[in-house]
Amino acid sequence: MSRLKRLKEIPLEKLNAKKFILEKTKEIQAKVGAEKAICALSGGVDSAVVAMLGHKAIGNRMKTYFVDSGLMRDGEKEEVIETFKQLGIHVNTIQASKIFFNRLKGIKDPEKKREAITFAFYRDVFPKIMKREGTKFLLHGTNYTDIEETVKGIKRQHNILSQIGLNTIKEFGCIVLEPLAELRKPAIRVIAKELGLPKEIYERVPFPGPALAARVIGEVTLQKIAVVRKATKIVEEELRETNAFQYLAILHEDKITGIKENKRVFGNQIEVRCWESEDASKARPTELSYQKLARIAQRITNEIPSVVSVTYNISKKPPSTIEAV
Ligand code: XMP
Repeated sequence: MSRLKRLKEIPLEKLNAKKFILEKTKEIQAKVGAEKAICALSGGVDSAVVAMLGHKAIGNRMKTYFVDSGLMRDGEKEEVIETFKQLGIHVNTIQASKIFFNRLKGIKDPEKKREAITFAFYRDVFPKIMKREGTKFLLHGTNYTDIEETVKGIKRQHNILSQIGLNTIKEFGCIVLEPLAELRKPAIRVIAKELGLPKEIYERVPFPGPALAARVIGEVTLQKIAVVRKATKIVEEELRETNAFQYLAILHEDKITGIKENKRVFGNQIEVRCWESEDASKARPTELSYQKLARIAQRITNEIPSVVSVTYNISKKPPSTIEAV
């Protein structure tokens, strides 16, 4: 039987949030016993729910970390730490940007890039944290759609391990617990609300584990991440009001001729995407007004010196995917 068939999805309409939380809390307690566990909190709804479930289950033996990969958005670390402080959860940080950029160096192939992100997390960063905390237990926010996409060969999601045959103890020295593996995003949002997470978390727009590296076509460098980070900030500021499922900026690999300050330049191209979707498995572009698109283009080309061209993606998923890498 395939790994996907063995895992049963709990559809939103069949979800009993209270019961689910109780069962998963007991499961974590039973597996972790008297030991500690770690989790990597990005601030997204999946990892936030896992951190909360872990704290509910084993209290302060749950060690929550924000991995500063150098690939995150502007101000993201500070925001996540502050939000969880308000919830009474201390978030440790680990500086790992050198690790991530070294792993990504010279890689252009999208699946190899995703593999490099996996290795940065699981071979380099998590073993350090597990050693520091003296545990092998790692709690993960893997959801049903992540598993489905990877197992079906659509795209390797950075956090899919055992489902593609990787032995996590042998490969990375960790025992992975995935309490959300049966749920898709809308169901996870319900659990988040039930757990008392604030609205900015349970309604948070998805952001991928590989972070801005999933939005740079070609080799990922510090300079390219800086460009896509600025474009992301503008796109998020402009499109938040749409309440779309997800909106993002992508930095293309090709450069093109443009004009800045009355001179020819060979500049960057940014692609904007804005998606309507239920659970990320299918999506269609939001019908943004021309006025909105023009404003985004103007802001990006004015505020980011290297960018000379902005486009809007009008294809559906499939055949497109939500992220570019
Ligand atoms: P795609 O690009 O496959 O994205 O259409 C579907 C949804 O998943 C998010 N995404 C990821 N999330 N690790 C994650 O945690 C990943 O490797 C990853 N790749 C994509 C994406 O942002 C979208 O919401």
